[in-house]
Amino acid sequence: MIQEVKERFHGKHFITLQDYSPEEISLMADTAQELKRQLRAGIPHPILQGKTLGLIFTKSSTRTRVSFEVGIYQLGGHGLFLSDRDIQIGRGEAIQDTARVLSRMVDGIMIRTFRHQDVLDLARFGSVPVINGLTDSLHPTQVLADLVTIREHKGSWQGLKLAYIGDGNNVAHSLLIGGTKVGMHIVIASPQGYPPAQEVVALAQANANVSGGSVHLVTDPFDAAAGADIIYTDVWASMGQETEANTRQKAFAGYQVNAELLQHAQAEAVVMHCLPAHRGEEITEDVLEGPHSIVFDQAENRLHAHKAIMALLI
Ligand code: CP
Ligand code: NVA
Repeated sequence: MIQEVKERFHGKHFITLQDYSPEEISLMADTAQELKRQLRAGIPHPILQGKTLGLIFTKSSTRTRVSFEVGIYQLGGHGLFLSDRDIQIGRGEAIQDTARVLSRMVDGIMIRTFRHQDVLDLARFGSVPVINGLTDSLHPTQVLADLVTIREHKGSWQGLKLAYIGDGNNVAHSLLIGGTKVGMHIVIASPQGYPPAQEVVALAQANANVSGGSVHLVTDPFDAAAGADIIYTDVWASMGQETEANTRQKAFAGYQVNAELLQHAQAEAVVMHCLPAHRGEEITEDVLEGPHSIVFDQAENRLHAHKAIMALLI
């Protein structure tokens, strides 16, 4: 199954879910599920034997780094962790030079960084598939894993209501794009001054028009949570926004996923968080640890989803 699907994806970049059709997103999720099954059954799957993936990080990471490194190893290949503290990018080497040099040596590049343009430049100047492991604008590998997790718990995507409570950030953007591609109703509740970017909302709206999903931006978290199948949140201050943390704490004070908010959702609603979480800020301890929370299934599925991305693209 994976070899047949691979023909369709081989050599492509994974920079945003906007570049993929609903059918392709479904095929990637199916591949993740199949790789998860094989791993659990102890069936080896050395699809990337002899292949290498460069992993550039200019921001911290636990889940993304470990899932890609472990994932490529399980696929029979090798991952190279390239922190900007060590490679010449950190001393100012141009991204277009890094792209061409790495392309002569590795079979794919994953990058987590600040500027989205750097990921686009890496793809433009390099000649191997580039995977976006998070920028200030988007976090598509997270959302592919989230879609896998949602389908596991809810059976399908079409028509589900996902309420995202908090900052209109990279995760919110990718949820808007990915969720509307597959027919979900995405409601974002963010305080004034922190909505998702207009151009992302416009893309999501266009996706929703095709898929039968919808997009709503609200300021009242309780409006968003009403009847939701999924409640999702993320930190109030993302990586790179450390100096804004105090201002943001005040602005987001009413935007906490807690037991009271959860009461407005469907009785069988699930709670998701990309992690890392700040207990007592965007989510309470009792909800994070409670029966609705699927955050650790979600974290595990990063491994399976990232393996699918690598297995299909590289
Ligand atoms: N959710 C996520 O991307 O986690 P890391 O920052 O630990 O990679
Ligand atoms: N929005 C968060 C996500 C971390 C995985 C950040 O960018 O820091």
